[in-house]
Amino acid sequence: MKNATLHQLRVFEAVARHSSFTRAAEELFLTQPTVSMQVKQLSKAVGMPLFEQVGKRLFLTEAGKELYQTCREVFERMSQFETAIANLKGLKQGTLRLAVVTTAKYVIPRLMGPFCQRYPGVDVSITVTNHERIVESIAENRDDLYILSEPPEDIDVAVHPFLENPLVVLANRNHPLAQEKNIPLKRLTEEQFIMREPGSGTRRSVQSLFEEQGLELKVKLDLGSNEAIKQAIAGGLGISVLSIHTLALEGKDSPLVILDAENFPIEKMWYIVYPAGKQLSIIAQTFFDYLTTEGKAVAEKTTASDGFLDYAKKH
Ligand code: PGA
Repeated sequence: MKNATLHQLRVFEAVARHSSFTRAAEELFLTQPTVSMQVKQLSKAVGMPLFEQVGKRLFLTEAGKELYQTCREVFERMSQFETAIANLKGLKQGTLRLAVVTTAKYVIPRLMGPFCQRYPGVDVSITVTNHERIVESIAENRDDLYILSEPPEDIDVAVHPFLENPLVVLANRNHPLAQEKNIPLKRLTEEQFIMREPGSGTRRSVQSLFEEQGLELKVKLDLGSNEAIKQAIAGGLGISVLSIHTLALEGKDSPLVILDAENFPIEKMWYIVYPAGKQLSIIAQTFFDYLTTEGKAVAEKTTASDGFLDYAKKH
């Protein structure tokens, strides 16, 4: 391994994490031939192949798995070292790494505005993905802080609520149910439903509500994006249940309305989470304090959504 470089290890780690040369190249802003070349040279330094291709899929070899684990430990130590140095310097400077569920992307980037103005030395990296992927990231300790609605039960984590995340039924403004009050849950099962993808926390909450009532939904379409679901509702494909925050930038002329349905909203909270015992960097700790003390007020101040504001007034 004498000839292996840190850069090669970073490239290898990204390929292994994505199981893809192409996605690693995208993440690292490199070309795919460069990525392949780096991995090839690393594999030469190790003296064994690191990946094997079966059909179209890329798998780690045993040597690759060992190296992947080693890389993660090395990078974790490096990041602790960087944190220690930044903390020694006493500077609020460095990178804050967040991973947030897709619904939180309507709030967290807006909250970053005032935070970054206050601490101009801080760079931010935000990964937006679904519940299942966030839980994987927590287990692998990939980021500084995580935001999601249902903290994992099988991982030891520190958990702090910071903002309500009600899930509401959304329909097209012209939908016949738009004018009705207190729509029974059973009535919703007659409508065509648009659902988030498996692995989504929103999907899980919707499924458990209907299952608890012994009701089955007519799912017309699974979509892996809240925005795509909003477009599908606007296009008249059906109704859906999403976080009210997905309406954050919908103005008065929005084609979407919140239905007045029984058992809704599903009252959820967003939590800021990190693995128990993790030593937070000064930056992460500062962001944590900001979110738990000012997050809610800033989120409400910066939304343009009537639906959201009406809801906030009533609750
Ligand atoms: P998701 O978010 O549907 O994007 O997985 C769920 C959550 O709020 O935890």
